[in-house]
Amino acid sequence: MDKLNILLIGSGGREHALANALAKSPRCAQLYIAPGNPGTARVGANVALDPADHPVVLTFCREKQIGLVVVGPEQPLTGGLADALIGAEIPVFGPTAAAAQLEGSKGFTKDICREHRIPTAAYERFVDRDRALAYMRAQGAPIVIKADGLAAGKGVVVAMTLAEAEAAIDSMFDGAFGASGAEVVIEAFLEGEEASFFAICDGTRALPFATAQDHKRVGDGDTGPNTGGMGAYSPASIVTPVITARVMREIITPTLAAMRARGAPFTGVLYAGLMLTKDGPQLIEYNVRFGDPEAQVILPRFDGDLVELMLAAAKGALPEGAPRFASQAALTVVLAAKGYPGTPETGTEIRGLERAEAMPGVVVTHAGTKRDGERLLASGGRVLNVTALADNVKAARDKAYAAVDVIDWPGGFCRRDIGWREVARGK
Ligand code: AMP
Ligand code: GLY
Repeated sequence: MDKLNILLIGSGGREHALANALAKSPRCAQLYIAPGNPGTARVGANVALDPADHPVVLTFCREKQIGLVVVGPEQPLTGGLADALIGAEIPVFGPTAAAAQLEGSKGFTKDICREHRIPTAAYERFVDRDRALAYMRAQGAPIVIKADGLAAGKGVVVAMTLAEAEAAIDSMFDGAFGASGAEVVIEAFLEGEEASFFAICDGTRALPFATAQDHKRVGDGDTGPNTGGMGAYSPASIVTPVITARVMREIITPTLAAMRARGAPFTGVLYAGLMLTKDGPQLIEYNVRFGDPEAQVILPRFDGDLVELMLAAAKGALPEGAPRFASQAALTVVLAAKGYPGTPETGTEIRGLERAEAMPGVVVTHAGTKRDGERLLASGGRVLNVTALADNVKAARDKAYAAVDVIDWPGGFCRRDIGWREVARGK
């Protein structure tokens, strides 16, 4: 079995979790992370490469004989990094820019859903403010207003009143999200529980990978503003085997076929944000990468060889069988710097990580940290993820919070109720 050198793109908690899983594979020779963080530096070699500078990335890949590139975040994908790598015949796990439109344009995805009868909220696309306002008033509240393009998870307003909806439409057409808001999607409000569903795709076929549930609001009880995600657990029992089969049949498989028919086959991980409604699973949105913090709970449970699986996807040759996972549950708590999701306070010192890391079944991943000599400082909004594995979600939650409590970081905070839905279900 050949060993290969791997280049992982990104610098967050998701990438630290990916680095851990890739480095565990017997097929991984040397792992490079660009640009990485102090956590990934302990798993592989961090390199200062700008993923937007494709010629520099290609030169690095040739020099280091990279046999697989794994792209963590969405921006390099919508920016065409996979296209450049494919052009240079370097295997890449992640979609081309054309296929990354599934995340890059909400309108694009909605049109695919309409064309292929994929269950999703009823919608219309608008480039004209007055028409958008008229449609919104005709539909009534609650209603959901979305900037078409990438907006770092902030371009969605779930408006409970017409006044809120009007303000959202105005602010998007006034340029609150720049070019991403030049087009607006207005869609029906869906009621139900949300879940994150991940499928690994090789352009033609998809394998269901794993499920998780994120906690997007900053405050306990799902209150306060939206964030990138304050914690997650996996598996999400609400996504039963029957629902998984429906999601594959009604959502993922037709999407892959539609992308192939458009000449933009999808390779990589397709992350479906689902609303589980009384009429069945509906697609809220697609992402073309792993979730953050969902990767932190999915990857430690994965029993297979991630390098093998990603390489098979990149080469258009996924195996037949569904990937295998540990029966254990995982739960992760995000530690964020005070002020997040507004302006986070950076530069505060974090102590006691070793104590948390020494606890059995606990993994700490770095998301926004930097080293200052021996000291570890906060350098971003979401700073650390404390993940625990245990026999069930409740036990994983207790273990994760026990580990959180030995970390000494007065500059940070976390939600204290991650996993509450699952725990309330008695899991
Ligand atoms: P998105 O960025 O599209 O995932 O949207 C962010 C959040 O807005 C989702 O996680 C949902 O909580 C909520 N949301 C988006 N679309 C809808 C919808 N059609 N109905 C209800 N909630 C929605
Ligand atoms: N956790 C949500 C996301 O990664 O988009």
